[in-house]
Amino acid sequence: MEMIAEPERFRRACDEARRSGTEVGFVPTMGDLHQGHARLIKAARDDGCLVALSVFVNPLQFDSAADLRAYPRGLERDRVVATSLGVDLLFAPSESAMYPRGRPGISVDPGLLGERLEGSSRPGHFRGVLTVVAKLLNLAGPCRAYFGEKDAQQLALVWRMADELNVPVQVMGCPTVREFDGLALSSRNARLSPQERRASVALFEALSEAATQVRQGERRGDVIRAGMARRIAAEPLAALDYVAVVDERTWEDVGQLDGPARALVAARFGATRLIDNARLPWSGGEDMHNGGMHGLPREGA
Ligand code: PAF
Repeated sequence: MEMIAEPERFRRACDEARRSGTEVGFVPTMGDLHQGHARLIKAARDDGCLVALSVFVNPLQFDSAADLRAYPRGLERDRVVATSLGVDLLFAPSESAMYPRGRPGISVDPGLLGERLEGSSRPGHFRGVLTVVAKLLNLAGPCRAYFGEKDAQQLALVWRMADELNVPVQVMGCPTVREFDGLALSSRNARLSPQERRASVALFEALSEAATQVRQGERRGDVIRAGMARRIAAEPLAALDYVAVVDERTWEDVGQLDGPARALVAARFGATRLIDNARLPWSGGEDMHNGGMHGLPREGA
């Protein structure tokens, strides 16, 4: 595995791969690699790509300095894990290499969807995400880029950015990887105390209850949202941030379920904020354990 810190060298390495006839499979991460990332890397390998992984903790997407400081970093461990997973190129730039003039004066506006849900709880988050993803994709060049459905709103926004700004990338969504009890894998899980870890299953249970309600014929968005909120409220260690049921194509709140929809939840467990989501069952479609982003094209132009 080749490790690269300079953006221009990363660009050249990806160009070279394409010249030799290999498609580039790009997996952008903030490091602290876990099984969720392994799934993205495997998808890129299975697609026959040269696998390029970036590890960069992007300061632009943190709305709190404390959260940025607390974000786990361990490049040496990530290097070992990436090697064992068959990554070909590991791009790990410094902050000054990515933002040589400090905070960029030009950034990507995520539009109205960027202000909702995660965007409302974390102002500026998606502007920071899309700006760094645009930079990384400009360096990687034409490629397939792999993102987890765990961050469904991020995936939808990256797809929209690629579509609306004609970025030459195929955006690939990969299913969420879960612990034995349903907790979605996240770098933040390590910060939970044992009690908070036990309590955190409430997120998956709220989503499972929403799916069960739909399977039993419930179609009213308000009723499904109320059921999810009740499940979170029943957990004393959880502080609810939001529950939502959105149309998967428009990301508008669903009044009456009449097509593919996604349930989303965010809550704090002590100092740790967790998010999760699942596609709701719909007329013979996938269920929440294996659900693709139905209704949301998986590949951009
Ligand atoms: O999902 C993440 O890890 C980050 O938001 C991303 C896409 C690598 C951008 O910093």
